[in-house]
Amino acid sequence: MPSSYVEDPAPGHGSSAPRAAFRSDAPALSLNGEWRFLLSPTAEAAPEGIEQDDFDDRHWNGIPVPGHWQLNGHGSPAYTNVRYPFPVDPPHVPSDNPTGDHRLVFDLPDDWTDQPAVLRFDGIDSCGRVWLNGAELGVTKGSRLPAEFDVGPLLRRRGNLLAVRVHQWSAGSYLEDQDMWWLSGIFRDVTLLARPAGGVRDYAIHAGYDHLTARGTLRLDADSGVRLSVPELAITALPAGQPAEVADIQPWSAEEPRLYEGEVHTDTERVPVRIGFRTVTVEDGQLKVNGRRIVFRGVNRHEFHPDSGRAVPRESAVADIELMKRHNVNAVRTSHYPPDPAFLDLCDEYGLWVIDENDLETHGFSELGWQGNPSDDPRWADACLDRMRRMVERDKNHPSVVLWSLGNEAGTGRNLAAAAEWTHRRDPTRPLHYEGDSDCSYTDVYSRMYADHDEVDRIGQGLAGPERTRELPFILCEFGHAMGNGPGGLLEYRDLFERHPRCQGGFVWEWLDHGLARHDEKGRAHFAYGGDFGEPLHDGTFVIDGVVHPDRTPSPALTEFAKVFEPVRITVVDGALRVTSHYDTASTAHLDFSWTLEEEGIEIAYGALTVPPLAAGATIDLPLPELPEPPATGAESWLTVRAALAADTSWAPAGHVVAWGQSPVAPKPHPAAPATGSALEMTDTELRLGPGVFDRTTGQLTALGALMVEGPRLDLWRAPTDNDRGSADPDEARWRTAGLHRVQHRLVGVELLGDALVVRTRVAPAGHGFGLRADYHWSAGPQRLRLRLDVEPEGTWPCTLPRLGLRMTVPGTLGGAEWFGRGPGEAYADSRQAARIGRFTSTVDALQTPYVHPQENGNRIDLRWLRLTSADGAGLRVDGEPAFAFTARRWTSEQLDAATHTTGLEPGGTIVLNLDLAQNGLGSASCGPGVLPRYRLHPDRASLTLTFTPSGRAGD
Ligand code: GAL
Repeated sequence: MPSSYVEDPAPGHGSSAPRAAFRSDAPALSLNGEWRFLLSPTAEAAPEGIEQDDFDDRHWNGIPVPGHWQLNGHGSPAYTNVRYPFPVDPPHVPSDNPTGDHRLVFDLPDDWTDQPAVLRFDGIDSCGRVWLNGAELGVTKGSRLPAEFDVGPLLRRRGNLLAVRVHQWSAGSYLEDQDMWWLSGIFRDVTLLARPAGGVRDYAIHAGYDHLTARGTLRLDADSGVRLSVPELAITALPAGQPAEVADIQPWSAEEPRLYEGEVHTDTERVPVRIGFRTVTVEDGQLKVNGRRIVFRGVNRHEFHPDSGRAVPRESAVADIELMKRHNVNAVRTSHYPPDPAFLDLCDEYGLWVIDENDLETHGFSELGWQGNPSDDPRWADACLDRMRRMVERDKNHPSVVLWSLGNEAGTGRNLAAAAEWTHRRDPTRPLHYEGDSDCSYTDVYSRMYADHDEVDRIGQGLAGPERTRELPFILCEFGHAMGNGPGGLLEYRDLFERHPRCQGGFVWEWLDHGLARHDEKGRAHFAYGGDFGEPLHDGTFVIDGVVHPDRTPSPALTEFAKVFEPVRITVVDGALRVTSHYDTASTAHLDFSWTLEEEGIEIAYGALTVPPLAAGATIDLPLPELPEPPATGAESWLTVRAALAADTSWAPAGHVVAWGQSPVAPKPHPAAPATGSALEMTDTELRLGPGVFDRTTGQLTALGALMVEGPRLDLWRAPTDNDRGSADPDEARWRTAGLHRVQHRLVGVELLGDALVVRTRVAPAGHGFGLRADYHWSAGPQRLRLRLDVEPEGTWPCTLPRLGLRMTVPGTLGGAEWFGRGPGEAYADSRQAARIGRFTSTVDALQTPYVHPQENGNRIDLRWLRLTSADGAGLRVDGEPAFAFTARRWTSEQLDAATHTTGLEPGGTIVLNLDLAQNGLGSASCGPGVLPRYRLHPDRASLTLTFTPSGRAGD
């Protein structure tokens, strides 16, 4: 029989009442470090007597605390999204319940005096039974919540024995079905905290702000005898319960996170505090902070590190926040549980709006039509409420927390309603969020996930959503599913947030790819996802859906996010420069504006720009800067205006670009004169036209000057993205049904028309009647070979095209790339805001985006020209009309498609170069809307003209 506490739906027992997380001047001893560890396959197999001093643990292993045993050589991680990885038989758990015993022997520091003390665990997954010096302290559940046990009288000066038995599964696991790796252990800090007699047990600071008078109100709730001092505000020893008013307060906001340093104190203990004055309200159907509507430009953040799972080192949390701030992220939803408490300190300090979410998800019950859902079962009432209480009490003093969230995907039910009622009573200063309360019967904001643009538009107009929700602020607690390459369509969401006052932004799903760092059998590093650990039940790559790769390098999605949600918009309208502030509260006084003028991507002039500070939300039109005369050459010139930080901040140095805008200043040049004048020469096997050599029978290009090439041939295929694969009616399935991954090329004829070579083909998939006519018209000058591709669909096409363009191979030595077009990063039709016009250089290898699950990537768009070069200076230049897109890689689209991990991509000897008219957009159908109609690539008549110059010299 399993230990009864494991399957008891009640919260644990023995711990003390929840309270705020804080550090005081009272002694504290970190018990993090190397502990002794034994993993047993079941609870019953775990040894007896681990709490006894004389228990022999010499044959046990060492394990780091904080940590997960599955990431330290014991057992293995498992990933599921919705489904529980065990039978849904609440509150029972499998008999095979891996149980990790932990032991630590510690001494007290010499200066530790005899006094009350608590032992604090910030997180144990999923159920821990704790003993100190042989005495049982209790049991804790609620993996991402703290538990404290009173231990004062039990402590010894030397040789304290702390024993913790952790079960992988418990009744609590039914409440912790978040979409993430199942990982167990003591994964957050363990600390012994002295609790001086007459000290500060707990406190709540209420710091409101009246935006009409700029006055702050301050009140400390605590036991009598506890006081608050804030020297900067001349507040000295304000007694608990006594309100104070302060004039001329600088309020806290995510944009200007003003914190006042103070101290909560008694005669025996001092707690340093940082106070942010702000008032959160729901008024006129809008969520307001300090009287102003705010817009969440947010991300959902799980706690994750590729080596240590949910044991996230502080420097990674800091890295997250700095990356967020540098990419114009202003809000975080702590999906789907309270983060390490230190993370919220950082949010206060750096400035981020936070939705703090409870550790409660019962999504797996949706598979049973929500039958037996703990959210509505009285047996789980205490556990549900206990979790909410522990979060609210722990995090109540953070100005960054502006909304509480009851949890995620836990259905509905009386336990949630009760938790809502308790929270409203306990903290009337923060509105309550829960997406699952779809008619807002007990929540204060209307929240949805993945609603498409049309629906958000209707919600914004008050035309959609249950009755009560229509008077409430609307947020997308999840949108823009960033799985693999994508999302597309962020810009259109931004437009809706700007059009409808009630649509107050959202939180992209999600911050980070949860790829676990691994090495393959050849020792090559890669990131693992669901199924890589032999899990019988798993959800594969669905855990790889962040805007940041597992190693915290930004994916192109984050760069796109930064541009779409930039807080200042710079455009040229009717010959004037328009600067619009999209800040919620801050002025633009912290920004310096400057301009550059580039001629074909080369800077020819620059200057500073005086933009008077704009109040939040204001717009100004200014004359364009005085620019030099447009070049006589007619070269394409662009004006770029940038807004950059004027001074260093905690998250980026002075000069960091926050926003930019571009405008053409000279008309696009006319296309280069056609390459003509070279006569066709013929041998038995070859045709020669300028630098081009063709197979005489097939009309296929085989060489460009000294460069051996294959192709170009019409290409329709791309390695499907996760978004191509997603949805009920995935594009990928349609494309494959149509056979677009296996088209055949039929040569219709090779014609010599004067000095031109015309190769006519028909490209179509086996088994179908539809196809594309593709005619290649070749002509040449002595150094240049020109191709005009004409495409015309035939028959009835059943689907869009993944891409439309040409594929060729060029020598692998041409590994350097330079282009004039949009860059520097990858871009697609519906995710291209971050790509600016300029001249960029890269290598073919660096053009690749290493999506954890390989798929189409690295596309650069709007190229006027591209040059590929080798180290010895040989090269190939391609000019295009209209502007074209390209990818260049050392493998084919088919190899990219077949690879399951980055290690599956083996460079070949040649470079596969795609020169495209277009690709289909990305959308975010892996979870959410597909490609918007205007970004779909339908088969249509099209032409592309490319000029190949193999010398490497620009046009001759
Ligand atoms: C949501 C859920 C998230 C995640 C996402 C898909 O339904 O709340 O946890 O699973 O879908 O990646």
